[in-house]
Amino acid sequence: MKYSGYAYINTIGCQMNVYDSEKLASILRSYGFEKTEDMDKADIVVCNTCSIRHKAEEKAFSFLGRFAKIKTTRPHLILVMAGCVAQQEGKKAFARVPYLDIVLGTQAFSRFGQHIDAIKSGKQKVVDIKDSPMIYEALPDISCFDENKISKFVTIMQGCENFCTYCVVPYVRGRERSRSPQNIVEEITLLVEAGVKEITLLGQNVNSYGQKEGGISFPRLLARINDISGIQRIRFATSHPKDLSLELISAIRDLDKVCNHLHLPVQSGSNKILKKMNRGYTREKYLNRILDLKKECPDIALSTDIIVGFPSETREDFNDTMALLREIEFDSIFAFAYSDRSSAPAAKFSNQIDENEKKERLNILLELQEYYTQKKNKELVGRSVDVLVEGKSNKTREGFEKNRSNMEQMQGRSESNKIVHFPSPHVNIGDIIKIKIKNAYPHSLWGHPLGDFEYK
Ligand code: SAH
Ligand code: SF4
Ligand code: F3S
Repeated sequence: MKYSGYAYINTIGCQMNVYDSEKLASILRSYGFEKTEDMDKADIVVCNTCSIRHKAEEKAFSFLGRFAKIKTTRPHLILVMAGCVAQQEGKKAFARVPYLDIVLGTQAFSRFGQHIDAIKSGKQKVVDIKDSPMIYEALPDISCFDENKISKFVTIMQGCENFCTYCVVPYVRGRERSRSPQNIVEEITLLVEAGVKEITLLGQNVNSYGQKEGGISFPRLLARINDISGIQRIRFATSHPKDLSLELISAIRDLDKVCNHLHLPVQSGSNKILKKMNRGYTREKYLNRILDLKKECPDIALSTDIIVGFPSETREDFNDTMALLREIEFDSIFAFAYSDRSSAPAAKFSNQIDENEKKERLNILLELQEYYTQKKNKELVGRSVDVLVEGKSNKTREGFEKNRSNMEQMQGRSESNKIVHFPSPHVNIGDIIKIKIKNAYPHSLWGHPLGDFEYK
């Protein structure tokens, strides 16, 4: 059916959810609901949820909790819980949010429209958490995209079967399955025609793309995407260390559009903890992979994910993680305090770590990394880097003022995914330009374009 109204989407969680929300917006548009940023105007509200950590889950329930009141004054508003918490909770979600209309699991997108029809025609509640062996492959409606967006995510595979003992993903996203290369290339071509210059390929374990289906490997997929004209940069996340192949390392080295950056989550530097996490590699194996990588791509930027306070992590184990950070010198890290997830096996492990202790370890770790992040940024001072211009920046710093009336303060990203600020008289969003780095801070780089004009 076609309706007329507005849809508000609140997205919590990872990049995959950002991508999924765009697909939900496309479906809603095809049913006549325009996207709005004004929740008060909305006829349908979707909360696309994440259950990776307790906090993310609470965020979803607290957002939905606001509708207890709203629904009394606007009973026709359709309230939808979508994504990972929806998949995890199913009809249990009604116990906490009784006025929810639709619980839409991670594999139910193709049936979203029919569920809206059901509610519109008087059905009280719909729960759809059925598994699906197929990925929802409908192409997005580009009229739902924000203007001037030059960088987009494209999910190439869903699910995970690594079963790390702390993680809910295999339970909420289902078994691993890959999209067909044709479908991916078609979507990227559509994005490029809409002005997109950079794409980030998403999957929980992109290195095993296509393996189950017996299709082309991930490095071969990268090569195919590299051939699409108009695309300027290709990124991808996440690679699993146990599956990082030499073929992938060569692809990063040889394919001109693939960024010189790898996100390779290590989680811990302690072999005892890695084993309990079921990660499938040791500290030594991880370090060897990094050596292989640096041999072929010496300037590669590296980032990682770390969990501190996993059950039975001693101070000694934690110090092994600290030592690993010192040894590798990552450009950046995402670090988390371990959060108990009842569907994941680690929730039942003995020797759970005290919350304050976890917080303390997290702070110590982040402080150490701050030093290396800044060190890595400082190494770029005096060098010129290619920056993909993303838009205007409202930040200023001494020495980087726009000192001509026709100049704009701009910002973009380096290949290593670092934010770079610079003043410029004539760049367009989506251009790649060379910026000479003059100053480095923990979270940004500042520079001037190399070119035909001088700054005071
Ligand atoms: N598939 C990716 C990451 C998925 S989740 C991978 O294998 O690396 C993103 C990050 O969240 C993980 O890398 C991990 O560091 C963190 N994470 C996952 N479960 C967690 C939990 N229960 N508590 C704290 N952090 C967690
Ligand atoms: Fe979770 Fe491990 Fe799969 Fe990553 S590889 S999604 S951490 S189970
Ligand atoms: Fe969260 Fe689901 Fe992503 S649990 S991290 S939104 S896959």
